[in-house]
Amino acid sequence: MQQRIYLDYQASTPVDPRVLEAMTPYFQLRPGNPHSSEHSFGWEAAEAVEFAASQVAGGLGVDPDEIVFTSGATEANNLAIVGAVCRASDKRRRIIVSAIEHKSVLATVDAVARRYGCEIDALPVDSEGRVVLDELEARLSDDVLLVSVMAVNNEIGSVQPIDTIAALAHEVGALVHTDGAQALTCSAFDCAVLDVDFASLSGHKVYGPKGVGALYVKRSQRGRLEPQLYGGGQQGGLRSGTLPVPLIVGFGRAIELLQGENADTERKRVRELRNAFVARLRELVPGAQVNGPDEIRRHPGNANIRFREVEGDVLVGNMQPTIGASTGSACNAGEH
Ligand SMILES: Cc1ncc(COP(=O)(O)O)c(C=O)c1O
Repeated sequence: MQQRIYLDYQASTPVDPRVLEAMTPYFQLRPGNPHSSEHSFGWEAAEAVEFAASQVAGGLGVDPDEIVFTSGATEANNLAIVGAVCRASDKRRRIIVSAIEHKSVLATVDAVARRYGCEIDALPVDSEGRVVLDELEARLSDDVLLVSVMAVNNEIGSVQPIDTIAALAHEVGALVHTDGAQALTCSAFDCAVLDVDFASLSGHKVYGPKGVGALYVKRSQRGRLEPQLYGGGQQGGLRSGTLPVPLIVGFGRAIELLQGENADTERKRVRELRNAFVARLRELVPGAQVNGPDEIRRHPGNANIRFREVEGDVLVGNMQPTIGASTGSACNAGEH
């Protein structure tokens, strides 16, 4: 069979073998429910979840009790946005997002506009996909409930100045959420330093499993979110439901592996590979152009390229079944 080449890591990464190894015992050997408090199987599962929470928190520079596990970044984005709207005062009904957010933010703000009458402002971005800060400043006022801007874009890889955005938004008393699904493979992502109130993460973007993620909720802002899943009151009542221990263990290990010097070396290696790939492609294909920011202010693994007189979807179609690459977000099923 012909060898296939997978390049679509911003859609989903393979699971790191060390992550799989950490997860495996929790499928069969350690079957406990972490919420079973009467026996050792339950305690062992609860300990594993606690440890994973400390690994995730360590990656974000926050405390383990500020981590709420979810089914992924989509759910985390929904919890932050809908949760904040459900607890908002009548005086704060505006939400500011960037125009290039992931669908799980854009569709959610659309829904709260319809359901709760919120007003949505979509911030324009410049030619490199970065939020225009003057536009943000002009739109901020004391009726803004929430500013939600993704840390790193999943299609053209632009890195947003989240610390500046957070400082500006906090000046008018708005909450700040960032979709950090692509952040940890790009650079360090310290939510305390960035000073955001909420941040979403996804397991399968960081060499962890699909179906797990987290929302960082700053301790002082916990009361600002209404749960979106009700039930047994797990996770302090913010997100009920039995925790998927194997997925959470894998997610924690994946985030741990993205910390420290080794992770920086790996990001550098990926950046060099990406640069070499783009340089060679431009040499071989006249008229091939890179879309988006320069190589420094961009996710190290992201290359977004346009070719003259070729439709992206036709090109990707012609590369099948050999090369895994996309014309856009996997989450915009069927749209280009
Ligand atoms: C920026 C961004 N946000 C959110 C998501 C959704 O994540 P999940 O698949 O974990 O729901 C993705 C990926 O699809 C993404 O790239």
